[in-house]
Amino acid sequence: MPRLKMSALSRDLLLRGVWDALGTPECFVTGGYVRDRLLGRPTVDLDLVLPGTLEKARGPARRLAARLDGSAHLLGRDDKRVWRIETPALKVELWPLGDLDLERDIHRRDFTVNAVMWRLPDGPLIDQVGGAPDLRAGTLRAIRKKNLQDDPVRLLRAARFLAQFPGFKIDERTAAWIRSLAPRVRRAPPERLGQEFLKLVTLANRRRGFEAMLDLGILRHTVRPAAAFDRPWISANLDAVSRLRHDAHPLRTALSEAGDAAALAFLLKASGSPHPDAVAPFAWPRTLRINAAQAARNLDAALSAVDGSPAERRALIHRAGTAFPATITLAAAVEPDHEWERWWRQWREHGAELIEPAPLLAGEEIAALLGLPPGPALGRAVAALTDAQVRNEVRTRGGAVRWLRAWFEENTPRLWKN
Ligand code: CTP
Repeated sequence: MPRLKMSALSRDLLLRGVWDALGTPECFVTGGYVRDRLLGRPTVDLDLVLPGTLEKARGPARRLAARLDGSAHLLGRDDKRVWRIETPALKVELWPLGDLDLERDIHRRDFTVNAVMWRLPDGPLIDQVGGAPDLRAGTLRAIRKKNLQDDPVRLLRAARFLAQFPGFKIDERTAAWIRSLAPRVRRAPPERLGQEFLKLVTLANRRRGFEAMLDLGILRHTVRPAAAFDRPWISANLDAVSRLRHDAHPLRTALSEAGDAAALAFLLKASGSPHPDAVAPFAWPRTLRINAAQAARNLDAALSAVDGSPAERRALIHRAGTAFPATITLAAAVEPDHEWERWWRQWREHGAELIEPAPLLAGEEIAALLGLPPGPALGRAVAALTDAQVRNEVRTRGGAVRWLRAWFEENTPRLWKN
């Protein structure tokens, strides 16, 4: 059982500086800052609680911002408005208590370990929910079921904290609450869920996070439609999540380029490989979202192409496009005992020309040759020729003309469908 480092708060120079700058009669620090400092971990995320209104917190927020060389801005909506000060080194939020008293503020939080307060500047530690003993014991315990109900993002936060704090176990009653509330994850604002996923997949111990999501029954409700959730697949492939670490991945350069997208792709694959648009509300950066969704969809093709012909691998690079690094990173983690290195080299050396090969014939030439007007049929002809080119089946203009004529003859009846 680790001893808690009380001196990390009482001798914290940052907290002292913050207190001096605020100039308020009363202020408490809480949340992750207190939790992490008591565990002896570094943290740059400071949550402050101030009695009084949002308006009353304006002065302290401005003074603190001036001291930190940053600026204070308002964030959030309705009764959840806070002042935020962000500098390259630190993120501070000032939460006005408004109509709440300290006790109610403590009891509306998610987990006991997140609800311990330290009164600035010299204490005491205010622990009304047993957060300090839980921290010592490594127990993640929800304050009450209703708090999980009120904000279903907290269900996913539980999995993230279990991954973030190795050795922590979830309290059994909390686990039972989460299992019973798991379908509510669907009601959580997708944007906030997306942020939690991002935090979870970038943790070194992301395997623990995935295991916890699976065990607590959350994973199946995270991506819609949940009906497509593939529990046997994810259980069989959990080792892949461990391999998405530098010391364990067969292709380290690929991992450093596309590790986060590959971890998200794993999540999406487990959830039935939804289309990139279906995960748009998660508000992941656009390229990350598209690469993760494409990699999930390409995974099976990549696994069968790795031992296939060079033409098959070239065609897959072409189809995967910029999602190829995430695809190969995930595929190599799922089945490490293949020749991934060679395929990766092919991408490094020829990726650009395989994604966008210089056309052998212009669109108008193909239209004239086949007598096709602009439209879907012509589009299919262009795509088929490009695919043949990528596979090295056609290399010259003359070859392209011959190939297209043969292809057209074979495909004419099908071309006009849809
Ligand atoms: N909180 C909560 N429910 C949430 C989000 C936050 O109860 N859905 C409370 C918790 O007390 C939490 C604090 O607000 O500790 C600060 O939240 P946040 O900064 O999001 O997380 P931290 O707990 O500080 O953890 P981390 O910095 O590791 O994300």
